[in-house]
Amino acid sequence: MSVFDNPHSRRDALRMLGVGAASALAFPMASACQKADDNTQSAVNDKAETPSSFSREVARFQPVKAPMAEATFPFSLPPLPYAFDALDAAIDAMTMEIHHDRHHAGYTKKLNAALEPHAKLHSRSIGELIGNLGALPEEVRLAVRNNGGGFYNHSLFWPMMSPSGGGQPSGSLADAINRDFGSFDEFRASFSQAAATVFGSGWAWLAADKANKLHVLKSANQDNPLTNGQRPILGIDVWEHAYYLKYQNKRKEYINNFWDIVNWDQCSENFGA
Ligand SMILES: [Fe+2]
Repeated sequence: MSVFDNPHSRRDALRMLGVGAASALAFPMASACQKADDNTQSAVNDKAETPSSFSREVARFQPVKAPMAEATFPFSLPPLPYAFDALDAAIDAMTMEIHHDRHHAGYTKKLNAALEPHAKLHSRSIGELIGNLGALPEEVRLAVRNNGGGFYNHSLFWPMMSPSGGGQPSGSLADAINRDFGSFDEFRASFSQAAATVFGSGWAWLAADKANKLHVLKSANQDNPLTNGQRPILGIDVWEHAYYLKYQNKRKEYINNFWDIVNWDQCSENFGA
C-alpha cells in the first residue's frame, strides 16, 4: 500500500517534500481520486504516473498551457456550438438545454460573484486560477475550485462533442494513443471504465502531461487535470445532470453512445497536433 492511501502518511510525505497545506490543495484531483477509488490510477491506466510523482509535480509547479484557458473575469457563458437537439442520438435536447443554460450558467454566475470582491485576481485567466489553487486566498479557493472548475470543464466539454463526431482520431493524437495505450480500443476501454467507475459526481479525462504522454484520469466534482499539471484533451461529464433524463441509472449506455459524438478534430487541437 502506498503512503498516499493513508491521509496521515500522505501529509507526512508531502511535508518531507516541502509541500505545505496550501500547495497540497494545488492537486485536489489526486486526493479526490483517492477518496473515490483507491485504485484510480492503476485501474484506468497501467502506465499512469504514480501518486508520488504527483507530489513532485506540485513541488515544482509551473503553469500549464491548456486549451480554452485564457478567459478572464468577468467570465461569460460561451454559446453552444450547435443546437440543443444536435446531439440527440446520444444526448437529448432537454438535457442539453438544462445542462448549458442552467448548470453551466450557474457555475459562471457563481464564479463571477466569488471573484468580484477580489480585484487582484481579475487579471488571472481561468487556467491560472484553477491551475494553481494553492496560490488563491483561502476564502475564495473552494468557490474557484468548484465554480471555476464547473465553468472551465463545461467550456471544454461542448466543443469536444459534435453531431458529425465519432470514429477515431488521426495524426499525432492517434499515434500518441497507440504509443501510450497500445491501441485505440484499449484506450477506449480504459476511458469508458474510468467514466463508469467515478463514484458520485465527476469526470473522466484523457490528459497529456508536460512530456506529452497521455493518461486516463478521473476527477471528483469539478476538478480538472490542469490542477495536476496536465492538459485536458477529452473529457466526459458523468454528473447525473449530464445524462439522467434519457438514461436514468444506465450510465454505461450514456458512455457507450458518447463515443458516437466525440469531436476528434477538437481533441487533436487540444493535444496541439
Ligand atoms: Fe455538467
